[in-house]
Amino acid sequence: MLTKFTSQSTKLAAKALADGLLVSFPTETVYGLGADATNDKAVARIYEAKGRPSFNPLIAHVCDVTQAQEIGQFTDIAYQLAHHFWPGALSLVVSLQPECRISKLVTAGLDTIALRLPAPYKVRQLIKEAGVPVAAPSANRSGRISPTLASHVVQDLGDGCAFILDDGACEAGLESTIIDCTGKQAVILRPGPVTAEMIRSACPDIEVNDVFMVNDEAPNAPGQLTSHYAPSKPVRLHVTRPERDEIYIGFGKMDVASDFNLSPSGDLIEAAANLFAMLHEADKTQRKRIAIAPIRRDGIGAAIHDRLMRAAADSLLPRDDNL
Ligand code: TXA
Ligand code: MG
Repeated sequence: MLTKFTSQSTKLAAKALADGLLVSFPTETVYGLGADATNDKAVARIYEAKGRPSFNPLIAHVCDVTQAQEIGQFTDIAYQLAHHFWPGALSLVVSLQPECRISKLVTAGLDTIALRLPAPYKVRQLIKEAGVPVAAPSANRSGRISPTLASHVVQDLGDGCAFILDDGACEAGLESTIIDCTGKQAVILRPGPVTAEMIRSACPDIEVNDVFMVNDEAPNAPGQLTSHYAPSKPVRLHVTRPERDEIYIGFGKMDVASDFNLSPSGDLIEAAANLFAMLHEADKTQRKRIAIAPIRRDGIGAAIHDRLMRAAADSLLPRDDNL
């Protein structure tokens, strides 16, 4: 539903977020498509709504620095950058806090997370009232340009959102700068409104390195796979008859017993929501390999396939069929 961004609609939209629904809201950069970052199914709905053919890690939006530090481990670099540029168009990649509740679908299974404290007060209020961090990529369908007006979101996503909060045009029209703060230098992964020059002048102690590695829509090229989780065990796909030394991840109704099932009812959104958590669990077992049952390719199934192909890329093991 398209509605003005008021204190009244903020309350309703915050409730929708807490209930696992999608809400589009305007930030100082672009309109975001938000979901509860601690809810696997809610985050899976983002991918479904965007029609994104791959799982990229998403930015978690927070309402204040305290909430950010509950989720991420702030290095000195992260702390300084937050101090100078938050709230604002800067996303900081930091290591996840060990016990935090963030969905593995937000981090795409990584142990780091991109965090952002957006500038508009209304957005911070929305996140605060929702009571959870909000994962939000730009609110456009995959392959389309990023929306800077509520009408763009309506055209692109229409019914996909419980609320589209309209507050006019976004100021920057360009996505936030993303900086990896986990090392000794600040590494710019995606250029944006906060530039290397701005950082050098505000924080002369910080060494800034600008390698632009992140591409929103196109899956990262080989060699740039640092932002992708891969299980340490070899992975075999389209398996209908697992071998004894394999841990078997099923999907839908199974003829053969499986150790895990991504979705016993064959629901692709549920499968996407469980994907990273189950890959991690399977990777922790004693068995030598991970075998995965055939999975449909429609809707969000395309992104699941993309993810599994990457997981299996190094293994090149025979499949059970010629799919
Ligand atoms: O301006 C913005 O940042 C907008 C508004 C809505 O806030 N959001 C946005 O989010 O652009 P998204 O999800 O489209 O961009 C996420 C980018 C992806 O390209 C992803 O690869 C990178 O951030 N990213 C997220 N987590 C990461 C991580 N742990 N390590 C490296 N890159 C990460
Ligand atoms: Mg985008």
